[in-house]
Amino acid sequence: MVPVIATAERIQPSDRLLDKPIMYGHIKPLNPVKKKTLMRLANTSIATLGDNGPYGLIEQATVVIDNHVIRWVGPETELPVEFANHETTDLEGRLITPAFIDCHTHIVHGGHRAVEFEMRLEGASYEEVARAGGGIVSTMRSTRAASVDDLVAAALPRVDTLLAEGVSMLEIKSGYGLDQDTELNMLRAARRIANERPVRVKTSFLGAHSLPPEYKNRADAYLSDVCLPALTQAHNESLVDAVDGFCEGIAFTPEQIARVFDHAKTLGLAVKLHAEQLSHLGGTALACQYNALSADHLEYANAEDAKLMAQSGTIAVLLPGAFYTLRETQKPPIEAFRQHGVPIALATDCNPGSSPVTSLLLTMNMACTLFRMTPAEALAGVTRNAARALGVSDSGNIAVGQRADLAVWNVEHPAELAYRVGLNPLHQRYFAGT
Ligand code: NIG
Ligand code: FE
Repeated sequence: MVPVIATAERIQPSDRLLDKPIMYGHIKPLNPVKKKTLMRLANTSIATLGDNGPYGLIEQATVVIDNHVIRWVGPETELPVEFANHETTDLEGRLITPAFIDCHTHIVHGGHRAVEFEMRLEGASYEEVARAGGGIVSTMRSTRAASVDDLVAAALPRVDTLLAEGVSMLEIKSGYGLDQDTELNMLRAARRIANERPVRVKTSFLGAHSLPPEYKNRADAYLSDVCLPALTQAHNESLVDAVDGFCEGIAFTPEQIARVFDHAKTLGLAVKLHAEQLSHLGGTALACQYNALSADHLEYANAEDAKLMAQSGTIAVLLPGAFYTLRETQKPPIEAFRQHGVPIALATDCNPGSSPVTSLLLTMNMACTLFRMTPAEALAGVTRNAARALGVSDSGNIAVGQRADLAVWNVEHPAELAYRVGLNPLHQRYFAGT
């Protein structure tokens, strides 16, 4: 058995990325200078997220990294001799997991909504705040007033907080511009973040997030005049990796979302949807018709939705931060997802209104405590299944040929990651082997 390593001395400030977020600000995502030698991480246990039992755990393990990919992984005793004499780092019993992936964020936005937080504490509901002109539309005003530089500068501290917890990839949505220029600026800011920090970014166009006041009661005109042309333009500028929408009473109907998805399909873009968050409107069934990558939120989804998701290969992205912040009581149908074999991903939903959360570790804890997911499901939710929700196949698990996106933790057992609240046990993050 490996020794416990989470001693006070090991969790020195200098061990933590959080204390040096600015220092790697100018490092490019992939180091163009190729290392000539293989590198081996030894004396570790590895949660591979493979099929070998819960966590895909291998104890007394070793992983060989060849430039930015994994060359070999397995028990130390089975290491092929050809890898035995390469540069080796002794991890002193620490745990390795795939680096984390945050597959649903609105991390690029202007301003904050702390005042709305106060209003909700005084009794107003999320929907009441939205209908009174607050909510998404209030963030729209702050976002329209911001430049791309402003948006990047505001987002970076939040991004750094995620990276400090071992995140190597995040999804970033537009959806607070609700006019063409600002929607594009949000996506430009998202792309810039991948140059400013060693992290991969997947963008989602979310023009159908809310109706701007100038189109009040004219949702179809908004889609024709603004949302669909903005999507075309953003796609022409290579700013869009997928197309999202918000299907809800305070946002768009399934028929309106179908117009957006039809347009996405003509552009060859994958779709995903905020569905059944506050009520059951049938967004999930619609998303499945379009073979959506994911349906997200899903508190009001049912067993029939789970069945459709299994058939269309749509991932369930659960957002316990929004459930918690809105003090929702209706839980997503976890048992139906399990029964139908729908992979469950977890994400922060980092946004200024319904989920001002920048921690995947806390999100894992919430998923276990609030939704009764297991710690193994929670870890798969922020790694393997989060990659699938983004349509990414080269990261999210630890296997030969995968990118060496790894997180090394000062913990003994993988369940510790979901168990503690407020402790960040990250020792080191490897981004494509660096
Ligand atoms: O994912 N549900 C819709 N959109 C966001 C909330 C955005 C906001 O309140 O600003 C979400 O929860
Ligand atoms: Fe969201």
